[in-house]
Amino acid sequence: MLKTRRQFLALAHAAGGVALASGVAFRTSRVFGRQADAATTSMRGMEQAPQRQMLNAMTLTRFVDPLPVPALAPSDGTRPSPRSRKVQLPYYRIEMTEFAASLHRDVAPTRQWGYGGSVPGPTLETRSGQGLLIEWVNKLPRKHFLPIDHTLHGAGADKPEVRTVAHVHGAKAPPESDGYPESWHTPGQSRTLYYPNEQDASTLWYHDHAMGITRLNVFAGLFGAFIIRDPAQLALNLPGGAFDIPIVLYDRTLDREGQLLYPVSAAPGAPFVSEFYGNAIVCNGKIFPYLEVQPRRYRFRLLNAANGRYFHLTLTGNRPFHQISSDLGLLQSPVELRSLVLFPAERGEIIIDFTGLDGQEVQLRNDADDILQFRVLKKQQPETSTEAAALPPVLRSIPRIPESQSVRERLLTLSEHDDAAGNSMQMLLNESHWDMPVTENPVLDSTEIWSFVNLAGDAHPMHLHLVRFQVLDRRPFDVFAYNADKSLVYTGPAVPPAANELGWKDTVRADPGMVTRIIVKFEGYTGRYVWHCHLLEHEDNEMMRPYDVISPARARAERAPSSNKKQA
Ligand code: C2O
Ligand code: CU
Repeated sequence: MLKTRRQFLALAHAAGGVALASGVAFRTSRVFGRQADAATTSMRGMEQAPQRQMLNAMTLTRFVDPLPVPALAPSDGTRPSPRSRKVQLPYYRIEMTEFAASLHRDVAPTRQWGYGGSVPGPTLETRSGQGLLIEWVNKLPRKHFLPIDHTLHGAGADKPEVRTVAHVHGAKAPPESDGYPESWHTPGQSRTLYYPNEQDASTLWYHDHAMGITRLNVFAGLFGAFIIRDPAQLALNLPGGAFDIPIVLYDRTLDREGQLLYPVSAAPGAPFVSEFYGNAIVCNGKIFPYLEVQPRRYRFRLLNAANGRYFHLTLTGNRPFHQISSDLGLLQSPVELRSLVLFPAERGEIIIDFTGLDGQEVQLRNDADDILQFRVLKKQQPETSTEAAALPPVLRSIPRIPESQSVRERLLTLSEHDDAAGNSMQMLLNESHWDMPVTENPVLDSTEIWSFVNLAGDAHPMHLHLVRFQVLDRRPFDVFAYNADKSLVYTGPAVPPAANELGWKDTVRADPGMVTRIIVKFEGYTGRYVWHCHLLEHEDNEMMRPYDVISPARARAERAPSSNKKQA
């Protein structure tokens, strides 16, 4: 029986152990599925979890803290390149530590784990083709402060509690530097990973990826932005410098002492919950911050770093803005929008023009909720800048990959199941578990179409490591027919991607009841990577699979009859 996540929200609270969510209300989106309502989730905890009372973040005074802009990570000298000892690469040493930082003027400092002493961590900045080395140093405590579920795969009680492995999301990195979930290291250890950055200018991000506890490590604060620039993009003279700001969005729940609350299930010994929605929306480390802006154009690099929440972003007054980039670089042309949906791990770079709004305020909102206020200053002296007077109508050319280039189409199902006890849920890719043999093994430099057949009731943001892809379309199909005999019966025409989905992507929203098709060229490296749902609760509970990019020679050997194999 498909038990829905709705029935599953009989969540209890970490400290109180009191069932929380019998009354959690959902704001239902027609398209994407359910999502908890920030304003209502908060109230239940206040009534029902006496030991750790939940803070209703919606009641906090708005716009009293300036928006922090994460510092740029300073490089710590150079080290020889792993490719050639003669080449020196910038080297960064980034420590993961525990500290307390306040999320709001009126909230006590919150214990968090961050890279480089802040959440988000410092922003890495580099140029396309400029490789760099990062030593990721785990200086965290040995005990986790969030509820580990030892029944999840890879998170058994035999494993050290605190394990980390950094992954640069969107990076075209060699497999040994990609941050494979099982390649974790423990407090006192470090790993130096190599990022060649042979890819277009884009906003990537780094975050923890440790097997079975990624949701907790990221929730604790282990993430930051990673920006690649390139000459082609610089030549466009888009707003830069102080007018080019990353905005990392995520949601959290705090108790009245300002400490993070991560929900637990009612099942003893198995605290896993299948999704998290908090009532506090955090921007670059603050709840309801404000940003003073000049009456001019700004570039904001929006990143959804939430465990599970999607953001439906608008500006007050239904003010239009332009999206210029998707996950992996510029779109072909700016797309005028009045709202932007970002699923977990998706990035959208937008241009907001505050020209003529001197002295006014503009709020960035998620649905009806304020999250950030822009305060437009009065115009001072005219600026001397080389910035283009208008947004260029064409940003770059992005040829569509013809479907005829694909050598293989893979149908990959997304599904949700109860476990045997009926008190936990599992989400599977292709009905397969993490530790089953690899089934996706594309050949290096070949192009494939991956079709995500979503049998579940909600949208899942699907992400592939290493590669960039294009979204082909989404097409509704008959889920019952599929469940009955695996026949794929379409019930309507294919829906082409929206204009702001026509660029390069690494994460795609796979809508419920739809087949979402992407086309991917597997470029870069052979070796083992992963593909997964980026709802971190799902990813931690089997909605993640390894995949191998294999060499043409290996593909030929595997295709050859066994009698020939010996000679090969
Ligand atoms: Cu954002 Cu597998 O990662
Ligand atoms: Cu999912």
